Amino acid sequence: MLYLAPDNAEGGMVKQRNRFAAAVLALSALAAPAVQAGERMWADCRTCHAVTAQDGAVLARGGRSGPNLYGIAGRTAGSDGDFRFYSDAMRAARSRGVSWTQDNFVAYLANPDQFLRSVTGNPDASADMHVELRQGGQALFEYLRGLSQ
Ligand code: HEC
Repeated sequence: MLYLAPDNAEGGMVKQRNRFAAAVLALSALAAPAVQAGERMWADCRTCHAVTAQDGAVLARGGRSGPNLYGIAGRTAGSDGDFRFYSDAMRAARSRGVSWTQDNFVAYLANPDQFLRSVTGNPDASADMHVELRQGGQALFEYLRGLSQ
């Protein structure tokens, strides 16, 4: 154990660093439940999606009938170059520069058709993903963002 005399200048530094460490711990304790909830929810996505890093490392196992969700936080819509089955609506979103902010991600999951209609301005747009997730989109976003860091 390290003994810190009160008049020891170095001791003050160490204490400050400890306070900083405590603050970091408190922050990650806050974020952890969202990430864990997101991880559980991933079960609803992995039938069709995997998370695979550029070097091929599989960060979350899953199917391939949907695009790779690596780096999805902030990524441009419809931009997985290896995925060949994007809908016309998702391609249109891409060409309009739509990106996966947390708000867009949550809105898309809640209603993919409606989201693509609103961002493309095409009332007939229809997504190739038939999932409607009313809750927990934020947690999934945090989980996926954490995986890709
Ligand atoms: C039954 C298969 C299936 C399931 C289950 C599914 N998806 Fe998808 N997902 C797709 C397909 C197919 C697309 C491409 C949609 C298009 O082109 O319109 C897609 C697209 C996406 C995109 C846009 C990706 C990009 O490259 O722009 C995100 C984000 C996404 N899905 C997230 C999720 C999440 C999160 C879940 C779990 C709640 C989920 N999906 C569940 C099939 C699925």
